[in-house]
Amino acid sequence: RPRLYSGMQPSADSLQAGNYIGALLQWREMQSSFDAFFSVVDLHAITVPQAPAELREKTRRTAAQYIAAGIEPSKSTLYVQSHVRAHAELAWILSTITGFGEAGRMTQFKDKSARYGQDSTSVGLFTYPVLMAADILLYQSELVPVGDDQKQHVELTRDLAERFNKRFGEAFTIPKAVIQKDTARIYDLQNPTAKMSKSAESDAGVLWLLDDPAKSAKKIMRAVTDTEGSVHYDRENKPGVSNLLTIYAALTGQQIGAIEDEYAGRGYGDFKKGLAEVVVNEFGPVRERANELLDDPAELDRVLAGNAAKADEVADVTLADVYDKIGLLRRV
Ligand code: TYM
Repeated sequence: RPRLYSGMQPSADSLQAGNYIGALLQWREMQSSFDAFFSVVDLHAITVPQAPAELREKTRRTAAQYIAAGIEPSKSTLYVQSHVRAHAELAWILSTITGFGEAGRMTQFKDKSARYGQDSTSVGLFTYPVLMAADILLYQSELVPVGDDQKQHVELTRDLAERFNKRFGEAFTIPKAVIQKDTARIYDLQNPTAKMSKSAESDAGVLWLLDDPAKSAKKIMRAVTDTEGSVHYDRENKPGVSNLLTIYAALTGQQIGAIEDEYAGRGYGDFKKGLAEVVVNEFGPVRERANELLDDPAELDRVLAGNAAKADEVADVTLADVYDKIGLLRRV
């Protein structure tokens, strides 16, 4: 089975609807046809300040949400990035073939560093995409299912892999991003031209996977729409309603046209009530299952450790080959 790789940052207590729709749904779908590796990328999370005790807890919570959402740790290799030392080691090697200017062109870095300011921007935030390249390349991954915002990082990964292979000999498979066109970008409910994000300034527009269902329903009822009053998809002129339709379609598997028909001649109130029900029905069981898993952290930690051992085996082979190819003296 071809390899597939993806990951998420444990940067909040809960994943948000964009992570679930833009990434997790694809992961779940693809895990049976691929040899899939899914990591909780804690080393990425620390590129911005994290409270140590909270980071540990968020890492467990993120892993629990993967499993609760249907990623099966017996089928897929679901592990914590920092448990596999090869990630940091390969990232160092790759940083030596990454151009300073090339890294500086990453739009996510530009956005984030502008937000934090020069003095609070770490070198780690700058080299973040190189670590992501290491994640992907260690496993000879062919496919990388992500949301739209990670596309540029996967492009950089391809460039680095090609550069390394050319300079030192074939060590890496060239990966490809898999981006589901319709759900590549889920927007904030209050600000439907900005992507939904764990680090949004206001919580009102973010739907959390682990939130109290009543709270999520309320957020949907208050979502920004427009004054036209008709439920149809028009990303340009009706970004709010279009975003709600995207979420509705992704969670039910229905076509957008069918949903438009269903709500033809009915107001936004009805439509939002319908969507709230869809979201609560989908997220409710995930939340319950995640909480069950979190009730037994020792068992969860054991599952993660077992999977890290599987990941180690694959990663070590790539890393040893890379060390050889670039001429590091072997320790005998
Ligand atoms: P992260 O943690 O920001 O997001 C995890 C995944 O969720 C997707 N996503 C969205 N999709 C649609 N709409 C949204 N509003 C939305 N918000 C987030 C992201 O595109 C991503 O797929 N750098 C990565 C994590 C990472 C990684 C990797 C991914 C580290 N190493 C190797 C793939 C392969 C990140 O910060 O994702």
